[in-house]
Amino acid sequence: MSPGRTVLVTGGAGFMGSHFVEHHLDAHPSDRVIVLDALTYAATLENVAQPQAHHAARFEFVHGNVRSPAVVDALMARSDVVVHFAAETHVPRSISDSLMFVETDVLGTQTVASAVVRHRDRIERFIHVSTSEVYGGAPGEVMEEGHPLRPMTPYAAAKCGADRLVFAFAQTYEVPAVIVRPFNNYGPRQHLEKLVPRMVTSALLDEPLTVHGDGGATRDWIHVRDTCRALEAVLDAPIEGVRGEVFNAATGVATSVLEIAERVLALVGRDGSAIVHTPERPGQVTEQRASTKRAHQALGFEAETRLDAGLAATVAWYREHRSWWERLRFMRAVPVTGGDGGVTYW
Ligand SMILES: NC(=O)c1ccc[n+]([C@@H]2O[C@H](COP(=O)([O-])OP(=O)(O)OC[C@H]3O[C@@H](n4cnc5c(N)ncnc54)[C@H](O)[C@@H]3O)[C@@H](O)[C@H]2O)c1
Repeated sequence: MSPGRTVLVTGGAGFMGSHFVEHHLDAHPSDRVIVLDALTYAATLENVAQPQAHHAARFEFVHGNVRSPAVVDALMARSDVVVHFAAETHVPRSISDSLMFVETDVLGTQTVASAVVRHRDRIERFIHVSTSEVYGGAPGEVMEEGHPLRPMTPYAAAKCGADRLVFAFAQTYEVPAVIVRPFNNYGPRQHLEKLVPRMVTSALLDEPLTVHGDGGATRDWIHVRDTCRALEAVLDAPIEGVRGEVFNAATGVATSVLEIAERVLALVGRDGSAIVHTPERPGQVTEQRASTKRAHQALGFEAETRLDAGLAATVAWYREHRSWWERLRFMRAVPVTGGDGGVTYW
């Protein structure tokens, strides 16, 4: 790909988007990055402090909504590459109220993809950041990219709609779109509502760690830095090999939620008696493990960070950045209103 590109990153003030922005600016000294972000509760400008401080001449922040055709179109007109992260992302919130998930994840993607079509003479690559949640669960199976899509929650269904919409745009309009399905990411700056930071901060605060059900649900945990490397590999690959394709970004290793809780406690010097079990969450996916074969063969991508090292570094980050997360403590559990009007906290 040509040097000196302008990369439009939607959702770049959130967890994964902000890591990608840092990673990309550090690795590509000729490229510029424009972040388009609505700054929802999940984002903070602190997340883009590093690019603002170190790459001010090559970094631009635009406060706006991916659902706005005018805003998205104007930015697309001066971009060469698009990496689309912006989404509502927390499963329990989608169970509580799915409207915003359909609005942002589906309609926002439709807005971005339509602008890519209008500017297809200019756009070299459009990466859509999907999710492993589109697969649902697959006990005993390794999930290849052709695995049936069985979204189990409103979040997963909205992301599934977006994923298939981008696929259809690649077929219909031949836009240079690529779909990446990261599995469960963790690392610095992840919102406290998500499992790993919720556990890490509970462990640091000397509080109990709550685990849904028996904690036996497994996930393929990938450090956010590795996901950034996977996205860069997609940007670097010749378009003929990746147009309209789907790639998992994962490690191929599954670890249970209970084991994550135990490892986090061990890292802060506490024992497993701090684990408290709560009722299972509806729509819970019991098992997820990715096939990493296609990403390895087509992109040469392999995750580098082992879970023990990644978790240790993540615990260290939260220990050292208390001012970043203190204000979010009250958001660790999400109130969900059931059909009977009763409220439970997930
Ligand atoms: N975190 C994970 O484990 C994981 C795994 C797989 C895929 N993903 C996907 O990766 C992407 C990023 O996830 P994340 O964990 O960084 O999420 P996040 O919630 O931390 O960040 C989402 C970002 O999108 C922004 N945003 C939300 N609505 C917007 C709108 N209407 N217009 C513009 N910006 C808007 C938010 O302000 C925030 O900065 C999402 O598409 C998510 O579905 C996440």
